[in-house]
Amino acid sequence: MTAQLIDGNRLSQTLRAEVARTTESLRAQGLQPGLAVLLVGEDPASQVYVRNKVKACEDVGFFSVLERLPANLSEADLLARVAALNHDPRIHGILVQLPLPPQINAQRVIESIAPEKDVDGFHVANAGALLTGLPGYWPCTPHGCMKMLESIGYNLRGKHAVVIGRSNIVGKPMALMLLQQNATVTICHSATANLRELTLQADVVVAAVGKRRVLTADMVKPGAVVIDVGMNRDEAGKLCGDVDFAGVSQVASYITPVPGGVGPMTITMLLVNTLASAQRTHS
Ligand code: GUN
Repeated sequence: MTAQLIDGNRLSQTLRAEVARTTESLRAQGLQPGLAVLLVGEDPASQVYVRNKVKACEDVGFFSVLERLPANLSEADLLARVAALNHDPRIHGILVQLPLPPQINAQRVIESIAPEKDVDGFHVANAGALLTGLPGYWPCTPHGCMKMLESIGYNLRGKHAVVIGRSNIVGKPMALMLLQQNATVTICHSATANLRELTLQADVVVAAVGKRRVLTADMVKPGAVVIDVGMNRDEAGKLCGDVDFAGVSQVASYITPVPGGVGPMTITMLLVNTLASAQRTHS
């Protein structure tokens, strides 16, 4: 079997066109959604990510500001920047790009963002809302994965979903979203003893570890849906995911590519969250 691709670029285009249309009508009413992105230091991957985020904002008609701050910035200075943005009426979403330099406590900075402007969905108030099923912002990457499953009309009810990875940004919220759709969910991680045994039972596998070839063809049940959240480089320096794409695509029914899969969906969901935040201030 050769798996069908779930094309994150194409799905993003559709969703971003919707965001752009809604933005146009909001702007006609005098409201322009605004996102502030704070980048501390010069991590090369982070620079690419924030550039893509700001460009995506411009493309859909948002107001956006990118603040590049020095790597030796103090935590107090970063907290002061966030506090100012919390009170800035032009700004509906605040994103502090992670990772932060070691002198800054990332969790303290995240908790300083007003929850209603936390479009990353990392604040404990939003994490708690997801946990309990209350309204709030969902982290963009797992939310994008859910949109990809929705795009193929996949019904998760009663299905076994295996999430590999337990980060606060992807693995844990992913598991909660799958659970909310009535899947039976297993979370695997670095201490999991029998990973292959578990993934072989999965109808859906989400690989979110950040390591190449975490999931190979011999670990996948024929016909499973495979979502690859990884963003790694192979021996030749080429972008690749956590999944052995060549092998797994012979076994799975659907698979997301890297690049062009989950990556663009993360940014798309950031736009969706920022738009929702702007709309909330309006209503
Ligand atoms: N670093 C890697 N992914 C993300 C993300 O989704 N949001 C933020 N703020 N930082 C990240």
